[in-house]
Formats: sequence, C-alpha cells, structure tokens
Amino acid sequence: MTHQIKTSNLLLRAFTATDLPKLVELANNIKIAQMFATMPYPYTMDDAQTWLAKLHADNSNYIFAVIHHGEGFIGRIGLYLKPTALPNLGYWIGQPFWGKGYASEAVSALTIWAESQFNIKAIQADFFADNPASGRVLSKAGFLRTGNTGMSYSLGRKTKAHHIDMVWLGETSVGGR
Ligand SMILES: CC(C)(COP(=O)(O)OP(=O)(O)OC[C@H]1O[C@@H](n2cnc3c(N)ncnc32)[C@H](O)[C@@H]1OP(=O)(O)O)[C@@H](O)C(=O)NCCC(=O)NCCS
Repeated sequence: MTHQIKTSNLLLRAFTATDLPKLVELANNIKIAQMFATMPYPYTMDDAQTWLAKLHADNSNYIFAVIHHGEGFIGRIGLYLKPTALPNLGYWIGQPFWGKGYASEAVSALTIWAESQFNIKAIQADFFADNPASGRVLSKAGFLRTGNTGMSYSLGRKTKAHHIDMVWLGETSVGGR
C-alpha cells in the first residue's frame, strides 16, 4: 500500500518492519488489548511479525501506521474492507499519547480520505461500553449510533463485553455535503 494521509499533527502511512519495536512497546498494554476482539496480550515481537507478514500478503485493507510529526510512531488505524458487510474501522493510540486529540484527528482524516478516494459512503465501527473515549472519538468524527448493541468476545479480557455499534454515512451524516 502506498497511500498516505497527512494531517496537522500526523502522517498516516504504510507499516514497515522498522515500526515493529515501537509497535510492540505500545501495543503490549492490556488497556489496549481489552478494547479489541482479537488483539493478544501480552503482545510480543512474534505477534507483530506475524501480523505484518499477513498485512503484506493481503492488500485488500487500508492499514496505516500513525506517525506523529515530532514523536514518531504512536499507533495504528485501519479500514477493513469486507465483501458482504460495511467497511470496518479500527484504531489504537499508545497510552503515553492519549488525550491529545490524535485518535480524533486520525479517524476524521481516514473517513474523509475514504470518501474522497473511493467514494465510500458508509463505515461501521463499534466500541465496548466501558470505553467512552472511543465512543467520543467516533461521535466527533460524525459516527452515529445504529441502535445495535450486544455482547462480543474480547481476547484481551478472555470474556465477552457489551459493545455498541456505530456507523458513518459520509460527510452528509455530520451535516456537510
Ligand atoms: C480510545 C483511544 C483511541 C482514544 O485516543 P485519544 O487519542 O486519546 O483520543 P482523543 O484525544 O482524540 O479523544 C478522546 C476523547 O474522549 C474523551 N474522553 C476521554 N476519556 C473519557 C471518558 N472516560 N468518558 C468520556 N469521554 C472521554 C476526551 O475528552 C476526548 O474528547 P474531547 O476531545 O471532546 O475532549 C485510545 O484511548 C486508545 O487507543 N485506547 C485503547 C484502544 C481502543 O480503545 N481503541 C478503539 C477500539 S473501539
């Protein structure tokens, strides 16, 4: 993947092997793993290398390293394209960088990019109910609650948790075009 997205603080670009040490350092955090369905904890260099090999073998998704202009690698964001469902958005930011607006900046930029590049008009995302920061990030980027909620498994928790589904419907969903 050669796509890049630039925002005022961030560059979203393809992953390289040189990102892996920082990726492992930041991703090896139960507070991140417990917010995902399939992210392992502990998160090891083996996990990261296996993940990157799969990423390079499968070009169908848009997965970006989140690079801060000053700090370097700070997280990951991706749009997962599915044949029979809406594209799905997932993201995390390393804990030292929380609360600085970076997830919001990355999510907004990626949705706008997806619409302008590929005319994608709907993106699905979900968050666990005990993760209001992620719900807030999605709301600020124009995602709306679908009304669907449910229980789903989280590998990091080793149990199910209550998730809330959201959808983005292009710029129109935030009162734009
Ligand atoms: C959720 C996460 C991506 C947020 O990243 P971030 O860069 O800190 O997010 P931002 O700074 O852009 O925005 C966070 C928003 O949530 C708000 N927030 C933070 N904690 C909150 C809480 N407990 N309740 C309600 N809102 C909260 C912040 O105030 C901010 O909103 P504001 O801009 O209106 O003030 C980050 O914490 C993370 O990676 N967590 C673990 C992985 C994860 O949850 N990924 C998403 C899976 S759905």
